[in-house]
Amino acid sequence: MKRLGVFIGGNGSNLEAILEAIQRQELPMVCVGVISHNDHVQGIQRAKRFGVPVKVVPHASFSTRESFEAELLKETRALKPDVIALAGFMRLLSARFIEQVNVPILNIHPSLLPKYPGLHPHQQALDNHDAFTGATVHLVNEKMDDGHILAQAQVPVLAEDTKESLSQRVLRVEHKLYVEVLKWIAADRV
Ligand code: GRF
Repeated sequence: MKRLGVFIGGNGSNLEAILEAIQRQELPMVCVGVISHNDHVQGIQRAKRFGVPVKVVPHASFSTRESFEAELLKETRALKPDVIALAGFMRLLSARFIEQVNVPILNIHPSLLPKYPGLHPHQQALDNHDAFTGATVHLVNEKMDDGHILAQAQVPVLAEDTKESLSQRVLRVEHKLYVEVLKWIAADRV
């Protein structure tokens, strides 16, 4: 079974969806560890509830990206992952880090990329009166929300939507989409 590492930075609802799918034996992977770049976030508690080991590499206590990534690399190598899923991990990774890790790194983003990379994608979809937005799972490169797209799912934008209602609807779809793509990876279909 493939060894999955998950990098988080916040709430961890995608992490929980992945861990639930593993627990239900719907996703044949083993989650070997979670690394958070923020301390005291909900995602850490969620991982612990599933008995998954957690390391915190707090980006704010490193003075340079190089020193942060050196520590992140050390903790990542210790997990010996076959694949890494970013789930709310809000740091850009350098080309050097990606090369050194040398396993596929996936990310999920709440828009139909290449539309609305970066922050506030839901607000942008609302401001532009888009009829649809969605979620994208893509391979990670050194640019923001930019790598090769593996899968996308559409979500309707409703007239009465607020940023909160829309992001909740997108998030429910993210949880399904991320697990689906990881199943393809588990089956060597990517
Ligand atoms: C999700 O919307 C994800 O697409 C984005 O950050 C959010 C993380 O949510 N990259 P969670 O921490 O998984 O709840």
